[in-house]
Amino acid sequence: MHHPPTAPHFVQLHQTDHDAVRAELAAGLLAQPPQVAPKFFYDALGSRLFDAITELAEYYPTRTEGAIFREHGAAMAQRVTAGAVLVDLGAGSCAKATGLFPVLRPAAYVAVDISVDYLRETMGELQQRHRAMPMLGLGMDFSAQLALPPAVADWLERHDLSSAPRCVFYPGSSIGNFNPAEALALLRQAHAVCAAGGPGGGILIGVDRVKDKAILEPAYDDPLGVTAAFNRNLLLHTNALLGTDFTPARWKHVAFFNQAESRIEMHLQSDGAQTVRWPGGERRFADGEQLHTENSYKWEPADFDALLREAGFGPSTHWTDPRDWFSVFFAPA
Ligand code: AVJ
Repeated sequence: MHHPPTAPHFVQLHQTDHDAVRAELAAGLLAQPPQVAPKFFYDALGSRLFDAITELAEYYPTRTEGAIFREHGAAMAQRVTAGAVLVDLGAGSCAKATGLFPVLRPAAYVAVDISVDYLRETMGELQQRHRAMPMLGLGMDFSAQLALPPAVADWLERHDLSSAPRCVFYPGSSIGNFNPAEALALLRQAHAVCAAGGPGGGILIGVDRVKDKAILEPAYDDPLGVTAAFNRNLLLHTNALLGTDFTPARWKHVAFFNQAESRIEMHLQSDGAQTVRWPGGERRFADGEQLHTENSYKWEPADFDALLREAGFGPSTHWTDPRDWFSVFFAPA
């Protein structure tokens, strides 16, 4: 028999493989054009700089999505089955999901994040506020592959939740970091996660929309330079992980809307010619050469609905702010 949990359960899927991380970073630096994946923004300082970005007047996504949840929470509750296992992708502080507990009324909470250490910090306190709700922190990098490990199925079974519906929660327009083919692959895996549970499951996902570049570009190139610091901090994080000798002051923040690809691109542009060295490798950068650090895709709602359908979900519903800047989609599994 199961007793009300008093502490969350934690599973770290992969022990961080330092060699694999170094190999991935080195391969990106040696690629043409050179690149570093956006997941490397989020060391401790990078996560705090991102939180600061969400406070900027120019950065509308977080605030706009929050307003949509507040305004349309009751309507969402009509679509999202109560008593589901809420699977929160990239949970971080868990604040968004927790704020929706009264609306979504989940039976259990599974928080997935690349850093289980961060989850440990936040979920302990969360469990005290929701004593009766089973909570599981899952440390995994789902950007390459999202499949819940057997330990999750075992944990659900122990809580009699094997056949509960599953609701995948992916807020913040984080799906924007993936190109359409990668986004489709991730959504297919999210569909498989839902389909493995009982009927009534689905996905609740925040998506940033195509809009005028006069609104988009300042959101990624703010006058205080917070986004520039966030972008350059990637170099410090790379120095820590790979042992490179990047000097952030010699790299200029560049962000623009690529209309043809429907994405914001962020780059770091070399100020002067310079050579970056690390144990076992080096790369020469010409003056003005760019290191690609992020894509943030913007979607038309009809195209995103089509993507969800292609991934195996049923017809979606979406809710929007009065300016049509952001949408929250629910699609049944
Ligand atoms: C966390 C991927 C949703 O693309 O808007 C914010 C990251 N980059 N400012 C976004 C980000 C620069 C953010 N996502």
